[in-house]
Amino acid sequence: MTVFVLEAMAREGFEEVVALVDRETGLRGFLGLHDTSRGPGFGGIRRFAYRDEGAALADCLRLSKAMSYKCALADIEGGGAKLVVLDPPELDLERAYRQIGRWVDRLGGRYYAGPDVGTGEKELAWMAEETPYVAPPGEYGPGDLAEATAAGVFAGMGAVLRLLDGEENWGRRTVVLQGLGRVGWRVAKRLRGLGVRVLASDVDLERLESAERELGIEPLEPGTEFGVACDVFSPCAMGGILHDVTISRLDTRAVCGASNNPLARSAHARRLHESEVLYVPDFVVNAGAVMRGAEYHLKGRATPLDEIEVRIGALAADVLRVAAEEDRSPVEVAEREAVRRLDESRRQRSAGRQPPEPSPEPSDESEPR
Ligand code: NAI
Repeated sequence: MTVFVLEAMAREGFEEVVALVDRETGLRGFLGLHDTSRGPGFGGIRRFAYRDEGAALADCLRLSKAMSYKCALADIEGGGAKLVVLDPPELDLERAYRQIGRWVDRLGGRYYAGPDVGTGEKELAWMAEETPYVAPPGEYGPGDLAEATAAGVFAGMGAVLRLLDGEENWGRRTVVLQGLGRVGWRVAKRLRGLGVRVLASDVDLERLESAERELGIEPLEPGTEFGVACDVFSPCAMGGILHDVTISRLDTRAVCGASNNPLARSAHARRLHESEVLYVPDFVVNAGAVMRGAEYHLKGRATPLDEIEVRIGALAADVLRVAAEEDRSPVEVAEREAVRRLDESRRQRSAGRQPPEPSPEPSDESEPR
């Protein structure tokens, strides 16, 4: 895959992209710092078997920009960043993550690292011995970040159900989950606790069986989940899973999940809108982890789960309400508001002032991108 990095950076408003290579460990990756006008860059470390470095770079750019939007919308005093690491089989994980920790440390607080696909508690613990600019796992850290993400996804589901039917009425709902990993499992557990019928797929069959046994979910063969009738379809695995084929198979009224960038292309937001499927944008509902991580570093607190639910639930409800009023896709409305807030922060920064006070709700002052 060919990516023209300077052109992409200029077009998408990037501040900095750093290429990282370590001869000793074989580590290779990219750090994207998209927009830090609201504060330092926050973003997880994704370690993945990318097909080539172009695919890794493209993912880094996409994910770090989404982090800027996420922080701006969630009123976090931070900006968007992401570190992606190519994952060759011979990589010595402990040495590699310690090296990443030293890199992050040298940035002196311009970037704070957190978990993402391929980077969990073990990896963060190695890094935490090399740098303070990482969310340490355990009792001294910000708390369970996946639970924070699940709280936001759950709040987004509540907002979309209230918009559709005026109430959540959990006991009569069916939710289809794709992916029962750290976040999907916790979403399933919350929903089952409220009597929701949950059907779920996971490529890890052991995990699927455990969820059936422990949570009472109904297992689905991976790939069949798109066609199952439900109130909410919840992607909690990888990105890029909603495209022309899968969207045409969906039998749901709403989509709300944790996966970053589940839409294969931005045009698919409009496609969902035209199909009358309400899509609650990923970067609106999956901000619970960065909210907790950023507020731990910047304010020394572990944001409580009920506060995350209230903040993300209110934001999702505002975005959905404005989208319905204007007959636009919620992605358009949320992006427009994120861009407005980032433009405002940049203006304030150039004028030498502090970042702006958060505005209460999405406004329609600027045109969508
Ligand atoms: P995870 O790696 O713990 O779980 C992903 C699960 O999806 C695994 O159980 C995996 O076996 C399953 N899976 C992979 N491909 C699948 C497929 N085609 N069909 C069905 N299942 C499949 O990841 P985690 O942490 O739960 O994150 C899930 C998504 O949410 C990711 O896209 C991540 O970027 C995003 N996210 C996670 C946050 C967090 O706090 N962990 C924060 C914000 C976003």
